[in-house]
Amino acid sequence: MKIAIMAAMPEELMPILAQLGEYTQVEYAKNRYYFAKFGGHELVLAYSKIGKVFSTITATTMIEKFGAQMLLFSGVAGAISPKLSIGDLIIATQLAQHDLDITAFGHPFGYVPEGSVMIPSDAKLNAIARDVAIQKGLKLHEGIIATGDQFVANAQRKNWIADTFQADALEMEGGSVAVVCNALSIPFCILRAISDSADGSADVDFDTFLASSAQESAQFVLAMVDAIA
Ligand code: ADE
Repeated sequence: MKIAIMAAMPEELMPILAQLGEYTQVEYAKNRYYFAKFGGHELVLAYSKIGKVFSTITATTMIEKFGAQMLLFSGVAGAISPKLSIGDLIIATQLAQHDLDITAFGHPFGYVPEGSVMIPSDAKLNAIARDVAIQKGLKLHEGIIATGDQFVANAQRKNWIADTFQADALEMEGGSVAVVCNALSIPFCILRAISDSADGSADVDFDTFLASSAQESAQFVLAMVDAIA
């Protein structure tokens, strides 16, 4: 199986590469793609840069150019659900784009014609994530993740996203990666570790906890690769 492991930022990808030891790399479309073997699988890895556009390019490239047959995303997210604390892991059951807005034409937030507000992630990969969490004795949260081209650092916007999408966490890439994988029929899992609470202290918390939360997610995603048959 050729598996894509994707992140948005170098801080999210480097802990994964460090575990792999040996890898090769190729420059393509102003980004760097890494290739390695792990757990009996071929891996293609990259960080996309932040946001929906860059993550769309990277996910598409991993699948269409480099032949990835499934995609695992590893990174950090802001918590919406009060059940989530910094360092906690969450997988997305469904993803939405919270900044997609043609409500002027009577459509709901997050919807454009011929699309859907929510995109479900892959049930089998999510089941593998659950098994890995049990093996590791870790709590794995599950819920809706809302994606947008905004670093959310205020309670008002966070609460609006919570109310509009029933979202449990938010970030800036999962929803666009979901669109790509859904369109190309590639199973995907979006895994995130909480770095902040998307409130007035989110910027400071993000800087403080990015490395440790990214490391949590990195360890978990590699255990998932190991558990994929
Ligand atoms: N990723 C991690 N924290 C985030 C936040 N507060 N807003 C958007 N993306 C994030």
